[in-house]
Amino acid sequence: MLKLNEIHHCGEFRLTDVQPETIVTIAGWIAKRRDHGGLIFADVRDRSGVLQVVFSPAEIGGDFAVAESLRSEYVVKIKGVLRARSENTINANIATGEVELIAKELQVLNAAKTPPFYIQDNIDVDETVRLRYRYLDLRRPEMQKNLILRHKVTKYMRDFLDSAGFLEIETPMLTKSTPEGARDYLVPSRVNAGKFYALPQSPQIFKQLLMVSGYEKYFQIVRCFRDEDLRADRQPEFTQLDVEMSFVELEDVVSYMEGLTKYIFNNAMQLELTENFHRITYDEAMNYYGSDKPDIRFDMKLIDMSEAVANSDFKVFNAALEENGQVKAINVKGYSNIARREVDALVDFVKIYGAKGLAWMMVTPEGIKSPIAKFFSEAHLEKIKATAQAEEGDLIMFVADKPAVVAAALGNLRLEMAKRLNLIDPDKLAFLWVVDFPMFEYDEENKRYVAMHHPFTSPRDQDLHLLDNGNLGDIRAKAYDLVLNGTEIGGGSIRIYRRDIQEKIFKAIGLTDEEAKQKFGFLLDAFEYGTPPHGGIAFGLDRLIMLMAQRSSIRDVIAFPKTQSATCVMTQAPSEVAEKQLQELHIRTRVLPSSK
Ligand code: AMO
Ligand code: AMP
Repeated sequence: MLKLNEIHHCGEFRLTDVQPETIVTIAGWIAKRRDHGGLIFADVRDRSGVLQVVFSPAEIGGDFAVAESLRSEYVVKIKGVLRARSENTINANIATGEVELIAKELQVLNAAKTPPFYIQDNIDVDETVRLRYRYLDLRRPEMQKNLILRHKVTKYMRDFLDSAGFLEIETPMLTKSTPEGARDYLVPSRVNAGKFYALPQSPQIFKQLLMVSGYEKYFQIVRCFRDEDLRADRQPEFTQLDVEMSFVELEDVVSYMEGLTKYIFNNAMQLELTENFHRITYDEAMNYYGSDKPDIRFDMKLIDMSEAVANSDFKVFNAALEENGQVKAINVKGYSNIARREVDALVDFVKIYGAKGLAWMMVTPEGIKSPIAKFFSEAHLEKIKATAQAEEGDLIMFVADKPAVVAAALGNLRLEMAKRLNLIDPDKLAFLWVVDFPMFEYDEENKRYVAMHHPFTSPRDQDLHLLDNGNLGDIRAKAYDLVLNGTEIGGGSIRIYRRDIQEKIFKAIGLTDEEAKQKFGFLLDAFEYGTPPHGGIAFGLDRLIMLMAQRSSIRDVIAFPKTQSATCVMTQAPSEVAEKQLQELHIRTRVLPSSK
């Protein structure tokens, strides 16, 4: 690595670097100082790691008093000679543990106040405090590791795509709203009174227009903005690796992106992924896992019990089946000795997802034990056991309801039980393509169909006719998601490239011709000037890095993230602005300024 002013990185020294005559210089922060009466030891940290420095009056002379004044987080520059540590002082826990620097010169570049938390890994500190002092939080080795990994991943993405012939092209941040489904962040225009730009939810339309322009392989590592409810894996601004290609079909996109993913894991993490990624349809994902982003690191699939429980005396199941519902179950292997209290709590758990209850059966040496066993004949119970492939010691848990509720309740229960039983190997990487998504989903609240991916996604060729005379809910799209360990890390589709089909989709989601023209006229026009067939995908970069770094929140892999309520506790954004600024923007807010 190039050394700035010949300053060495603390973490890079090894036994082979020991040269008794050579003076080396380091610069960094005091991580720890230990006084051994007449001898001072300090761990000096920079982003490469720590190095132990020894100060003795014999070696450093008058600067020894300065060494005595050192405190945690002081910024120092030290010249000294690298020495091998004696056998019994070697520290195997750090990379530089076989050497130490004998200081000859010490310069304090800056003093520091005592930080509000220890600058070390695995601290138990409220996240708000970490975010308020993010500049200190980012000094911690684990955070530095995450940001270094992030740098590497984007570098390898660029390398891979560049050598595959992709061009990185920037698209506007001040733009018009694109329908990815979330609310827009709006930016008022000063020179166009009363008008607003939208920050892009994704570069979707621009990348498609670049295909019209003939840039047949495009990518961009790009910030996207979505005003939606935040969660551990969602930020209001986040980064996508956005990709689009012309003259491709689903298989091409899938194989490019698998190649890219393998390249990244191989180079950034030295992990060789050899297997092809699994692939299932949306219907299979919902049926077996109750989720369109299944975690397939463990089994415990949802089992359809509708047939096995039919015609029993249990009214709850019969009623669900009569109302076009389902009865499904999971078999939690070896969990039949669950405490009554825990089952009761699980009933509350499934209720979060809309289930009305949770029925259960324990398979014991004395047969099936369950409060609902009395409603079933011996033959029923045998059939239930056989359908669930249940053995002695297993716990079968049932939900009866509409398919969407059964999926949500049992899908989440499946994940919860896997956590409780420690069934998930954190080192496993389970990639999964989910394909054949429905084109539309019905929005009960607004009583209309909406595009499940986005309205530029192409329906499957065999389903096109349903746009004219059929059930919109039956149309499947040429859409695909990439799922890793139960998190959606990417989504994309083969696009519509004909004006007539695009117009039909707009109509299906309730846009009038006028609205379609006003919102997307430029795209519809472009389709008439020689648009190639095209398709693409976007990876959620933050989520990918989060999973690579084995973190549970994307905030840990973003240098300056927002809180769950979309604020920055360090800079206090968003904040009120001066009345003059509002006037220039032709804006009057409906909220009174908060009393100070
Ligand atoms: P989509 O909306 O699926 O597709 O987004 C692509 C990926 O971006 C990530 N992602 C997010 N990450 C963090 N915070 C968020 N709020 C957030 N929202 C989405 C997810 C997701 O899979 N234009 C299309 C792509 C295409 O069709 O090519 C799009 O944006 O990992
Ligand atoms: P009830 O007849 O409502 O007292 O319910 C009897 C048992 O069936 C209880 O253990 C309930 O939790 C369970 N139960 C109720 N509704 C459902 C449902 N929709 N799906 C599965 N189990 C249910």
